[in-house]
Amino acid sequence: MDILIRDTPDQVAQTAADIVEIYVRRGQTIGLATGSTPLGLYRELIRRHREEHLSFAGIDAFCLDEYIGLPADHEQSYHRFIRDNFTSQVDFADERVHSPDGMDPRPWVAAELYEKHIRDVGGISVQVLGVGTNGHIGFNEPASPLRARTRVETLHQQTLSDNARFFSSPEEVPTHAITQGLGTILDARHPLLLATGEGKANAIAAMVEGPLSASCPASVLQLHDQVTVVVDKPAASQLADIDYYRHMESARPEWMGLDGLPVD
Ligand code: GLP
Repeated sequence: MDILIRDTPDQVAQTAADIVEIYVRRGQTIGLATGSTPLGLYRELIRRHREEHLSFAGIDAFCLDEYIGLPADHEQSYHRFIRDNFTSQVDFADERVHSPDGMDPRPWVAAELYEKHIRDVGGISVQVLGVGTNGHIGFNEPASPLRARTRVETLHQQTLSDNARFFSSPEEVPTHAITQGLGTILDARHPLLLATGEGKANAIAAMVEGPLSASCPASVLQLHDQVTVVVDKPAASQLADIDYYRHMESARPEWMGLDGLPVD
């Protein structure tokens, strides 16, 4: 894993945008996460679109997950979240911004169709990820099957309580979601996980330095050969080998781009 430690959430967003931009400029498919963490990244990509001609025309974007039972236009649906906070503010074609259909009466069929859709466009190149305080990615909660494809998940009580802040009452938080499975996420060419704040420190330490275990679903990324984790100092604060991660970045060979490939 490339572990990049930054002083501030703004710098996390800058570095993440540098990585996403590589794939966008190549016209490749991107995977998008919801939650508050990637908002700085999306703001920076919007700025680059307006000021630096970064164009999203002609590319596809796939959301990681969607609540079951929220209409697409509901304020808290991820379909709407990603449009309000990112894609409608750049030149994405709306019909190329995809998310699972959380209103399908047969959500397991919607999950299979979504998986097929990702496969049909040739897979996701860079997949933006946040992490839950319990180590979930997408909505893959502890005990998730490590090789699963897009599927229906029951949200953990911790996630229900973490996400209650976005709803007017905790009872309104949907109890289930359709999420890309851990196996789907592992198929992305380059998972890019962002975390800020002390609340994520334990999850980051478990993911990077703990055992590979379904108890910390994010630890499945240890199996991937091109993962970048960008964290601010508070989120990095529980990492035991932090000096090595800093050294790894400062000793990075000049020829190696942030995507792990030789720079053109
Ligand atoms: C939700 C999303 C995850 C996200 C997590 C963390 O549960 N399904 O994709 O990573 O929240 O959110 P935040 O970035 O707001 O802490």
